[in-house]
Amino acid sequence: MAEKKKMSVADILAAARKTDGGSAASEEPAQAESAQAESAAAPVENESAADASPKPTGTKSTGKAKPAKSASGGRLSVAEMMAMARGEKAGGTAEKPATKKPAAGKPKPAAKKTAAAKAAPAEPRDTASILAAARKSSKAGPMSKAEAAAKEKADPKAKAKPKIIVPPMPSKPAYAMPTPAAAKSKSKGAGQEERRDFLWVGFGALAAVTGIWSLASLKFLFPNVRREPPSKFKVGFPDAFPAGQVQTKFKAQYGVWVANAEYNGQAQIYALKSVCTHLGCTPSWLDAEQKYKCPCHGSGFYKDGINFEGPAPRPLERCAIRIADDGQIEVDKSRIFQEEMGQWEDPSCYIPV
Ligand code: FES
Repeated sequence: MAEKKKMSVADILAAARKTDGGSAASEEPAQAESAQAESAAAPVENESAADASPKPTGTKSTGKAKPAKSASGGRLSVAEMMAMARGEKAGGTAEKPATKKPAAGKPKPAAKKTAAAKAAPAEPRDTASILAAARKSSKAGPMSKAEAAAKEKADPKAKAKPKIIVPPMPSKPAYAMPTPAAAKSKSKGAGQEERRDFLWVGFGALAAVTGIWSLASLKFLFPNVRREPPSKFKVGFPDAFPAGQVQTKFKAQYGVWVANAEYNGQAQIYALKSVCTHLGCTPSWLDAEQKYKCPCHGSGFYKDGINFEGPAPRPLERCAIRIADDGQIEVDKSRIFQEEMGQWEDPSCYIPV
């Protein structure tokens, strides 16, 4: 029949006295040992009875064991003993209360455990140390590329790749060599390229001609207007026209001569149109001959514009002339004065000098 091993209060107290190192154990070793032996040999019923009805520690089990003393030399209280027992239990050295009593002559398992715990007390282990131990024991898992590269860099000989020797390429066989037909087709392709270039040149020329024609056609969008000189213009101050002189410098731009000469015995500055009264040709002033001469049919005019030779039927025409506000002579070609009409008497066609 298996015997239950359960530590009684007396056992706990005895263990507490042992760990105390103490005085009580050294003082009364015989009593403690006898108490332990008695408690081990005592029937379960007695223990349960003792547990059920606790008694003072001094009278527990043997009734002969002397009570333990406190650090102060006095007797240990029950609370102190329990505290000591609990502290020992928390440290891993205390043994669990046995549920079965060992057979006589065999060592108690609890006692074995207690001895091993006392021989090598368990060290406190934190989470980091436990994880490190687990990693050490576990196999290395798959490495990332970076880890593999770092490992290879650290130990390049470990993973040195063997050199791959590539054999040289074999020479082309005869059937793979280019044939005359292929060469001919190649030359045919060159001819096609030349034709393509010629087409590109033709398209470029056509585009250029089209662009020029478009620009030329734009001219028809604008009217072909002839720019006429203004009808009124200034020819300078009266001092610039000395007596007896004919100024020809305005003929090309304005189509008039400005002269300072006498008409009917009166010195005047006047402007004559450089248009022949025959058929509209442009005569020229001949200073050596002191006359206007038409190159078309030979009509001739005096300095004052009266016709005297050739087919011209009448004198030259005068333009309106006046002194402007700034003192310069202003000619107005929009107003014409004819001598045969008696219009040269109008002071608007001369400036008296
Ligand atoms: Fe001047 Fe005939 S146009 S003479």
